[in-house]
Amino acid sequence: MKYDKNKTWLYNMLFLLGGGAILLFLWRAPAETTKRLPQDETHMKFHAMEKKEAEKFCEECHNPDGVAPMPKKHPPKYRCLFCHKQNKK
Ligand code: HEC
Ligand code: HEC
Repeated sequence: MKYDKNKTWLYNMLFLLGGGAILLFLWRAPAETTKRLPQDETHMKFHAMEKKEAEKFCEECHNPDGVAPMPKKHPPKYRCLFCHKQNKK
């Protein structure tokens, strides 16, 4: 078979596009579906704080015996605010 330079280019492009689409999908998925940090009185102050600072307080209430325990099937909970997004600055 004759080596077809044009087609090689095309296949490489398709491969890259496919990979890019999957990456983009994985990257976007959690942010789109996970509940954001609520905008109520309890949580308002955390929107303004540095993520790591704010996260020290979450488990005071969101622990198994707290006022608002997290669901039993909650994903790994380390770094709350990477998943439960704050307001956009
Ligand atoms: C003083 C207690 C308290 C602290 C501290 C607190 N929360 Fe909450 N949180 C609550 C209560 C009570 C609810 C349930 C009622 C509600 O939706 O406001 C709640 C609800 C939530 C929800 C669910 C919202 C929804 O739409 O159902 C998320 C997500 C959440 N908190 C994340 C956090 C994160 C992240 C932090 C740390 C930055 C945090 N909370 C700190 C009391 C607290
Ligand atoms: C890896 C991502 C991730 C991390 C990190 C994370 N969560 Fe969640 N959380 C979720 C998902 C997904 C749900 C399922 C319900 C939903 O759509 O919000 C959830 C649900 C919750 C709920 C219940 C919301 C409801 O439906 O009422 C609370 C409260 C909550 N998380 C608090 C926290 C706190 C506090 C932390 C840090 C200690 C934390 N989360 C860290 C992804 C995450």
